[in-house]
Amino acid sequence: MDDSIYTLTNKSPSRKDFIDTTDFDQSEILDIIKTSVIVRDFIKSGHTFNPLYHKNLAMLFEQKSTRTRVSFEVAMSQLGGHALNLAPGAIQLGAHETIEDTAQVLGRMCDLIMARVDRHESVKALAKYAKVPVLNGMSDYNHPTQEIGDIITILDNLPPEKDWNDVKVVFVGDCTQVCASLMMITTKLGMNYVHYAPENKFLSEDFQKIGRENAEKYGGSVKVTSDRACLEGADFVYTDVWYGLYDKETPKEVYMKDFYPTFQVNDDLMSATKNENAKFMHCLPANRNEEASDSVMDGKNSICFDQAENRLTAQRGLCLYFGGVAQTALDEIKNKKEGNN
Ligand code: CP
Repeated sequence: MDDSIYTLTNKSPSRKDFIDTTDFDQSEILDIIKTSVIVRDFIKSGHTFNPLYHKNLAMLFEQKSTRTRVSFEVAMSQLGGHALNLAPGAIQLGAHETIEDTAQVLGRMCDLIMARVDRHESVKALAKYAKVPVLNGMSDYNHPTQEIGDIITILDNLPPEKDWNDVKVVFVGDCTQVCASLMMITTKLGMNYVHYAPENKFLSEDFQKIGRENAEKYGGSVKVTSDRACLEGADFVYTDVWYGLYDKETPKEVYMKDFYPTFQVNDDLMSATKNENAKFMHCLPANRNEEASDSVMDGKNSICFDQAENRLTAQRGLCLYFGGVAQTALDEIKNKKEGNN
């Protein structure tokens, strides 16, 4: 057996917190992915283990969530730990207590904190004031835990003839935090990323700069365009909602005018890839038949529900890695596979 597959390049995280994948080099991202995938395969083959025994994760939500909430809670349970769901209105935060004080208190009772926040500054403040690792479960700037699940889904679905750094990923639609996150993680892995959108919805210059710097360091490319020809040769077509993430944002009608019908991912748009195997991705939740048609979401090339499942794959890896026990967990799996336990 090749032992190196169970050995991480980095024995512990270079930073306490997982706020932004830009803070980590490619080898650390690959360590998180490796941990996630090995643990997924081990659990899926019927094994159980408890590397996070007696560890507690505080899950702090300022917004609703299905995938992030359930995947973290199930991940902690499957790894022998426990997750506390601190939903909006359930704790003093926002009413009688500051985020700084909340961070100090949660850090004294729990081993990890995951936070979905309205504003990116809030998750940074939590990380600053909590003594334990803080994982960003989405802010208005980025969605890094989604990034890890998405890249695992892409790697699971690589075209047979291509290495990962040959693939082309086209994000269609609004410059959401998921659009930005996908750009940051694909370019970090040397992939080719395109944002196809109306000009007034392009990724900001600041984000494009991060993409260009990644492309320079790791290979690959980043491009923003309104030219539909950019879809040709896409291996993955990804979209996200056009509106509805935040309560006080631009009304739906304005977004529909910007995007519909040109930027709806439907059969016609998928055919512009000229690749009958191009896969469809969506971070979900979706507004069906707005940003994506039923025919594509439920079609044979859709991997959006595999992608949702890989949120769980990713959360296990992240909790182990930032919980400081990823290598221990991989050693235990290796020993069990070799029949030493
Ligand atoms: N993609 C995602 O973060 O889903 P939830 O909002 O349901 O967590």
